[in-house]
Amino acid sequence: MGIEFNELFDQWAESYDSTVAGFDLEYKDVFARYEDILENVAERSEGFVVEFGVGTGNLTEKLLAEGLEVYGVEPSKGMREKVRRKLPELQLVDGHFLDFPVPEEQVDTVVSTYAFHHLTDDEKGKALVQFHRLLGPKGKIVFADTVFLTELAKEEKTEEAEQKGFFRLARDLRTEFYSTIPNLMDLFHAAGFEVKFDQQNDFVWLMEATKKER
Ligand SMILES: C[S@@+](CC[C@H](N)C(=O)[O-])C[C@H]1O[C@@H](n2cnc3c(N)ncnc32)[C@H](O)[C@@H]1O
Repeated sequence: MGIEFNELFDQWAESYDSTVAGFDLEYKDVFARYEDILENVAERSEGFVVEFGVGTGNLTEKLLAEGLEVYGVEPSKGMREKVRRKLPELQLVDGHFLDFPVPEEQVDTVVSTYAFHHLTDDEKGKALVQFHRLLGPKGKIVFADTVFLTELAKEEKTEEAEQKGFFRLARDLRTEFYSTIPNLMDLFHAAGFEVKFDQQNDFVWLMEATKKER
């Protein structure tokens, strides 16, 4: 939910930026076009932004470069320490998608990259309901994460990873909570959002959600 992946990310904090740069062959396709994907999320964001799963602050830097105000939420101490060194001025709090200190400002955009899959689909639905309450009337969600068209497509990608000898990637695909577009669509709709999906690479899709008109 929020803390079960902390140990993994505490350990990964120092080498994470070399993974996203494509130096880890197993994850090269997951992080293909990483900088463009983050840029696409930043360009679609507006106003006061709450970012979940800040990691080493790569999306944060792009949001700040767009002139946006960012409130970062990150559960891993190792990642928070890393991002504090990069962006000492950033408003950064310990928390996770389902439990975080709520900012006083009206929130215009909720963003996250490569993190929403840490929640089960049930938890994702609960988080989306909370975001609907958190966001102002014109508020939006912009996420990028690994998503599959169908369960079969996910199974095929997992088997392909195993055949290539990418056992860490295959284990992630089997044990983390990667969802499908139909499931996510249902969750966004049930929470009161319209959502559009835009494919970014073989794994990652951008999701842009706005509040449904009443
Ligand atoms: C793969 S990294 C992505 C970092 C960064 N957003 C990026 O795009 O490079 C996933 C991040 O999500 C954080 N995380 C894990 N579970 C989380 C949760 N339940 N809520 C918020 N963040 C979470 C991890 O600590 C880690 O920093």
